[in-house]
Amino acid sequence: MKAIIPTGGRGTRMRPLTFSTNKHFIPVANKPLIFYPIETIADTGIKEVGITYNPGGLEEAKAYLGDGSKWGLSISYILQEKAAGLANIVQVCEQFLNGDSFVFHLGDNMFVDGIKDQVKYFEKKKPDGLVTMIHHKENRRMGVPFFDDNGRLIKYVEKPENPPHDFAVPGVYFGNSNFFKCFKGEKAIKPSERGEYEIPAAFQWLIDNGYRVNVLEYKGKWLDPGKFDDWILANHYILENKLIGNIECPLDQSSKIEGKVVLGKDCTIVNTRIHGPVIIGDNVVITDSEVGPFVSIAHDCEIVGSIVSNSVLMSGVRVIDVKEHPVDNSLVGTDSEVIGKNGRGATTSLFVGEKCKIQI
Ligand code: G1P
Repeated sequence: MKAIIPTGGRGTRMRPLTFSTNKHFIPVANKPLIFYPIETIADTGIKEVGITYNPGGLEEAKAYLGDGSKWGLSISYILQEKAAGLANIVQVCEQFLNGDSFVFHLGDNMFVDGIKDQVKYFEKKKPDGLVTMIHHKENRRMGVPFFDDNGRLIKYVEKPENPPHDFAVPGVYFGNSNFFKCFKGEKAIKPSERGEYEIPAAFQWLIDNGYRVNVLEYKGKWLDPGKFDDWILANHYILENKLIGNIECPLDQSSKIEGKVVLGKDCTIVNTRIHGPVIIGDNVVITDSEVGPFVSIAHDCEIVGSIVSNSVLMSGVRVIDVKEHPVDNSLVGTDSEVIGKNGRGATTSLFVGEKCKIQI
């Protein structure tokens, strides 16, 4: 069995950040999002992973993931020429799979409690396809399974208007070589209204053509940092449940740390209170500030005279004198500056791109 993980897509729900940054490499708790699926796959014992990318995306993907040996994996890179949908991602991997069965794990989904049981189930029962389901109150924005009276999967629909229950299919899918039949011949699946070869359409083809597609409920924690609020939630969840405190550099006597905190190398922390869970990367300067809880601060950031909670700061971010209206519930992109006192009295001075979200 091999694994497929995509790094492509348009990232529309995470704009404007994704105009310049591939969402798969935006950090959750100081780790690029895609590392979570990679670790989940490595944990199942699968060794061969196909990473798909869109034109222009190869170098960055390689810079983050390399040959996979860091996780005991062997990574192949596969071009998906257009962001033409999830089923198309599997389709472009046909040669890589070379007849093997596969698990397809979306690069922006987090199955925090692993997927070992699902891999075992698939390998033991050998259905042609396997999807999982979770309870989700917004399942109208996801793939949804429909069942007959005997609980058999009969329909699997992308973003239906009126789902009959609150189940949704999250982003991990299993299949064998029969999957590729849906792209061939007269009955081949067609792109949806949003112009994509949808993953449910491929499984629906299998169901309609007499193949066996099973559904298993995923009882672990699933996170979907696909949009801003969910990103903050994912960061919160990982910091709260997975962080192991580790202080790698000395603090000055006027600073105080409470709760679980990771503090990287070569940091300067002066007259500051850090209230965990908080993760701070290397070479970060924090003075006269209050940080936490639920804050991730990447390398080379600077925080001066500010209060920051429940936020993700990417590398090189500067937050200066933001105390009166603290930074909360925020995701700040690489090398951005948030300046509280801008020297112009009560005005707010902004330099922002397209489709930004500013709450004052
Ligand atoms: C995609 C799939 C959808 C699935 C979801 C899980 O949706 O098309 O079936 O439920 O991922 O994250 P998209 O993110 O493309 O809207």
